[in-house]
Amino acid sequence: MSMHERNFSVSTSSAAAAAACSRAVEKFTQRKIDVVPCLQEALAADPDCGFAHAVSGLMLHGARQSSLMPLIEDSLAAAKRLRASMNHREQAYVDALECGAAGNLHGMVDHYEKILAAHPTDILALVLCQGELFWLGEMQRSERASSMVASAWHEETPGYPDYLAVRAFDLEECGQYSKAEACGREAVEQRSSNAWAAHAVAHVMLMQRRSKEGVDWLEGLQNNWQETNQMKFHIWWHQCLFYLETRQHDAVLDGYDNWIRNRNEPLVQVTPDLYIDLQNGASMLWRLEHAGVAVGSRWQEMAELVEKRLLDMSSPFTSAHYAVILAAVGNYKACDTLIEAMRDFASASPATLAERYRVAAIPAAEAAVAHRRGQYQNVLDSLLPVRQALWQMGASHAQRDLFFQMLVDAAARSGKTDLVQSLLQEIELIGFVEPAQRVAYASAVSQVDSARS
Ligand SMILES: [Fe+2]
Repeated sequence: MSMHERNFSVSTSSAAAAAACSRAVEKFTQRKIDVVPCLQEALAADPDCGFAHAVSGLMLHGARQSSLMPLIEDSLAAAKRLRASMNHREQAYVDALECGAAGNLHGMVDHYEKILAAHPTDILALVLCQGELFWLGEMQRSERASSMVASAWHEETPGYPDYLAVRAFDLEECGQYSKAEACGREAVEQRSSNAWAAHAVAHVMLMQRRSKEGVDWLEGLQNNWQETNQMKFHIWWHQCLFYLETRQHDAVLDGYDNWIRNRNEPLVQVTPDLYIDLQNGASMLWRLEHAGVAVGSRWQEMAELVEKRLLDMSSPFTSAHYAVILAAVGNYKACDTLIEAMRDFASASPATLAERYRVAAIPAAEAAVAHRRGQYQNVLDSLLPVRQALWQMGASHAQRDLFFQMLVDAAARSGKTDLVQSLLQEIELIGFVEPAQRVAYASAVSQVDSARS
């Protein structure tokens, strides 16, 4: 039996289960908290709701934490047991989960694209598709996915502001800034709590060096995110990037302590080591230090969390940040353990991510350690050959810029002025407007200038 909910149907005999699934999808695609309680409610109303099992597994997969694997396997087993009673769309989610559990991330994307071909307004598939492709660095493919379903979306379609938000971020990462900003602004006008759309516009402003506008944009929206999940901490990371660029260092530290890494924040208390939170924290502290700001003992609490996750190979971009954190506290023994585990995974695992670790995350981690040790030639040796492959560890241009900052800094400190200039040109080609004018590259540019004069 199936229940129609929003623009999809759920195979269940329980109207309460179908409604709870719908709420879970709505909250997830709107980047809100309490997705899991809704799925638990659905399963309490109908333990045989296969879609709820599949989505539960996909939510766990999205947390990028290897210790959750047994729970993912449980959800997958339950969903597979019920697969025959599910519709084709729901079955494709089960198949996507099966791929995810096996580490076949492109397989997941294939299933999401298959769902979208048949159900172009399935916002869950679109958001999940973008999420996988984002962490694979394949945003052109994500942009194609959101472009292909565009004609099916209209203002009245449930989830339209969420579609616009996905579209805005795809366009931004593909360098189509004005279209991205228009989409993002329209999405926020339609729903002011649209965190993903606010975030996409912040990315545009970052890439275009519109820092003051960026501060105003996010300050004007920040009261709308009470129900937003950890995405709000990442948006605060963006806000702090704007503050950093306008040299408001006290505001950066304040934003860091209150939002980026506030261990008293309820969401952080429940999940202190969420992968994206650790990325945000590491990335901001490194940038602060690079700007000459003392950060005190702030690295320590992250290092203590990371030391327990050295063998977690579920996110190459996150593993590279673990190296940043461990090196910052001088735990080089843990850095060695981490990088050795990354090498083992890269050489032995059949998972999609193995190659991503080999090509991008391992050199990035090695460079982070070498930079902290002041071994600038080693930074160049690690990063220079792979700089155009760093996208393979996933994330956005803005996030990956951390490793370009390390590379340029190492080039400048090694007296390689021509290399600094050519790297800045490359960074401009990535999509950053006037990188030489950015705070992140100020010290490298001034070293080049003084070498020339
Ligand atoms: Fe971002």
